[in-house]
Amino acid sequence: MIARKVDSLINLMTLEEKIGQLTLFTSDWATTGPTIRDTYKADIQKGLCGNIFNAYTAAYTRDLQKVAVEQTRMKIPLLFGYDVIHGYKTIFPIPLGEAASWDLAAIEKSARVAATEATAAGLHWTFAPMVDIARDPRWGRIMEGAGEDTYLGSLIAAARVKGIQGENFNGTNTMLACVKHFAAYGAAQAGRDYHTVDMSERVLRETFLPPYKAAIDAGAHTVMTSFNELDGVPATGNVHLLHDILRDEWKFKGLVVTDYTSINEMIPHGVVANEKEAGELALNAGVDMDMQGAVYYNHLAQSVKEGKVNVAQIDQSVRYVLRIKYLLGLFEDPYRYSNVEREKSTILSKENQDAARDVSRKSIVLLKNDRNTLPIAKTGRTIAVIGPLADNKSELIGAWSGAGEPKDCVTLLQGIRAKAGGGKVEYAKGCTLDTMERTGFKAAVDLAKRSDIIVVAVGEKANMSGEAASRSMIGLPGVQMELVQQLVATGKPVVVVLMNGRPLVFPWIADNAAAIVETWFLGTQAGNAIADVLFGDYNPSGKLPITFPRNEGQIPIFYNMKYTGRPFDANNKYTSKYLDVPNTPQYPFGFGLSYTTFGYSDIKINKNTFTPREDLKISVTVTNTGKRDGEEVVQLYVRDLVGSVTRPVKELKGFQKIMLKAGESKEVTFTLTANDLKFYNRQMQWTYEPGDFDIFVGTNSADVKTTRVKLIE
Ligand code: NOJ
Repeated sequence: MIARKVDSLINLMTLEEKIGQLTLFTSDWATTGPTIRDTYKADIQKGLCGNIFNAYTAAYTRDLQKVAVEQTRMKIPLLFGYDVIHGYKTIFPIPLGEAASWDLAAIEKSARVAATEATAAGLHWTFAPMVDIARDPRWGRIMEGAGEDTYLGSLIAAARVKGIQGENFNGTNTMLACVKHFAAYGAAQAGRDYHTVDMSERVLRETFLPPYKAAIDAGAHTVMTSFNELDGVPATGNVHLLHDILRDEWKFKGLVVTDYTSINEMIPHGVVANEKEAGELALNAGVDMDMQGAVYYNHLAQSVKEGKVNVAQIDQSVRYVLRIKYLLGLFEDPYRYSNVEREKSTILSKENQDAARDVSRKSIVLLKNDRNTLPIAKTGRTIAVIGPLADNKSELIGAWSGAGEPKDCVTLLQGIRAKAGGGKVEYAKGCTLDTMERTGFKAAVDLAKRSDIIVVAVGEKANMSGEAASRSMIGLPGVQMELVQQLVATGKPVVVVLMNGRPLVFPWIADNAAAIVETWFLGTQAGNAIADVLFGDYNPSGKLPITFPRNEGQIPIFYNMKYTGRPFDANNKYTSKYLDVPNTPQYPFGFGLSYTTFGYSDIKINKNTFTPREDLKISVTVTNTGKRDGEEVVQLYVRDLVGSVTRPVKELKGFQKIMLKAGESKEVTFTLTANDLKFYNRQMQWTYEPGDFDIFVGTNSADVKTTRVKLIE
């Protein structure tokens, strides 16, 4: 039905109008790159630009839409895109932070709220989720993904797509998802943004591709190509990725859009000499829409004349675009998303704020809590709230914060005051985030000395992570570490609240602070959510979705590395290790404490040997051995002991987040089949191999119970 309508429209279109549908320009409201065009309104009017990003609000999208549907010959409605990454106005935790919740329902809910707000502001399409696996915390965009693990990352990718797109587009509160950045953008060499990516086909397929596939299987309608090259070919002109894998193997039927000017960037990459050639390479590789580069706009008609690209290919790309516009109902009512009334009642509603607070506190990871420093009693204690992030609204929303505004944020100081009104709460800034200014130290230390407990909020600026925000050293910037050291020197208990977009390196704090709370950038409700945790109204349950290194020299470091032929042996110099730092991280993948404690029984299995037709049932009894109710993420890992190719030391294969009352026990059972043990064998076939497997169940990737099973044919 839609296909017929689309084709009859295409029959009526000129080549220029078709190319217009393949063109996506930014409005002048926001930009993430160097090219700012001021002609987009005229281009819309001439039918030369069919899609706009960075234009939002019901009123503005309505204005632009009016031009498209009233003044152009074909009257084809515009598609409005925007980076709604972790909220539109109500800002949720940065995606890496949300991943720490290991709570798929909460993550889906966050995406749902974001889509509800964004669509109320006239938007149809978000450039999310970013599902790039990332193992180098120097890379600033690590904040935008789900961390280092393929299994967890794939589940989260699917949850985000479901949240964004919902069941369908019948209501006006769901929008198109765009899986990005295809592919392997997160593997930039040395963590430097936009840098070269080079990896084996095996690693690509086994580690990096599954989250994109999971997002597509969850129904994502669009895919964004990445900036990087892969095996010498930029992703935006990469036939292997865009044609062989995406269309042929995965049967993707949606739209492929470039990243911002990534067609043009194939010139400096050095695979084409000019823009016209770049456009030909991209279109012929399978890129449908050109984001901001104006390459299709300027050169594609000429390429058709020269026979370098054919109209059938262009028609196919136009088909993908028009199909999406039909799916969204834009041909029936081009203004259906641009509803000023709905915008007013939806955005920043109480319900959305409550959802943000809930997801935020679930994303917090308790890294250390000596002598039960936390939770803090609400009354009877004088609390010093110190640090450049303690009463700072501007950084809390983190990078990629959509249309979010710092003024809507609750700071940590506000959150603490709201909660501990009965006690005495005093504030001192201490220092800035990144200067060498120490004049505030004295007031901070004086305050610390006359207080019972110190909460110090330190970390990064929001713009130290995100796009084009790689750092080579990932400690606390400026003099923040010195500030913490002086506070600890007072002898008072110091709770360090970290706010950051990536794993940081802070060995001194790890050793010397009484308590450490990793809060990422939590968004609009940050202060309330952190206060919920600090005062024990919420028992922290987050677990790290990424390894925290001891120092930068350990990078890349992730839990599922390989053994090597000379695995670590403390007594043998000639084994794989450093002279100056242990092989272990500061905090392993999956790590996170609670205000209670959990005991794990030994693992029970239903059989020691199993066949590919049988289920392996793996059970442990988990007991809440402390005094508070709490949630635990029970994690299942597997190691394949002998393979035709080497296998990781451990791989996450399952997890369950359970609630246990104080003293309560629950049996947790995982089902594993041979299918879960598949990998690319020496011949690059996706298969399992019979043999011995170690099974691990535990509270994080390093602290596990173990048993061994055998898979037989
Ligand atoms: C560049 C970023 O890489 C991409 O993720 C984003 O969607 C576009 N800019 C549009 O803002």
